[in-house]
Amino acid sequence: MTVIVRALRKGDYAGWRPLWDGYTAFYACELDESVTALTWERALNSHSSLFCRVAEIDGKVIGFAMCVLHEGTWTTAPVCYLEDLFVDENVRGKGAGKALIEALQAEGKREGWSTLYWVTRQNNPARKLYDMFSEADDFVRYRVSL
Ligand SMILES: CC(C)(COP(=O)(O)OP(=O)(O)OC[C@H]1O[C@@H](n2cnc3c(N)ncnc32)[C@H](O)[C@@H]1OP(=O)(O)O)[C@@H](O)C(=O)NCCC(=O)NCCS
Repeated sequence: MTVIVRALRKGDYAGWRPLWDGYTAFYACELDESVTALTWERALNSHSSLFCRVAEIDGKVIGFAMCVLHEGTWTTAPVCYLEDLFVDENVRGKGAGKALIEALQAEGKREGWSTLYWVTRQNNPARKLYDMFSEADDFVRYRVSL
């Protein structure tokens, strides 16, 4: 089974949307429709710092990586935050998640990004996948709602 990773395209909406809904349900999050609409729009907009790579199997979009490329104070090169990663539960365990991260890693090397990073819950079983790429550090996150 071959997994292809590529940039999101306008015509992907019907494939992407159920995955996005699956992802927000996974985090028990009810996003306002206007937020999803803007996220979709920005992911396609080359002037936005937000972008999306999708994974395809047999021509069907089955996963995505939503990212934000941002500046950093400790580097002159762009830093890539992998904010959302999701694979259709019917095709999990077939390498799509790994292919998405590897594709970002390869893109970052090509494009001269300094780092690719992501955060996850302490107990997310997906850490089995993440541990293949790097050791988790000991930073903890503080969030202030505004
Ligand atoms: C995390 C996720 C994207 C991984 O996608 P995937 O396509 O199943 O991952 P892969 O098939 O590339 O996994 C590679 C390896 O990691 C393991 N792995 C990946 N995700 C895992 C999970 N959630 N639980 C247990 N093992 C997992 C796979 O079993 C596989 O191990 P193997 O090589 O020994 O067989 C997918 O499980 C998912 O969408 N989870 C729900 C949403 C989520 O947790 N997103 C990440 C939030 S930070």
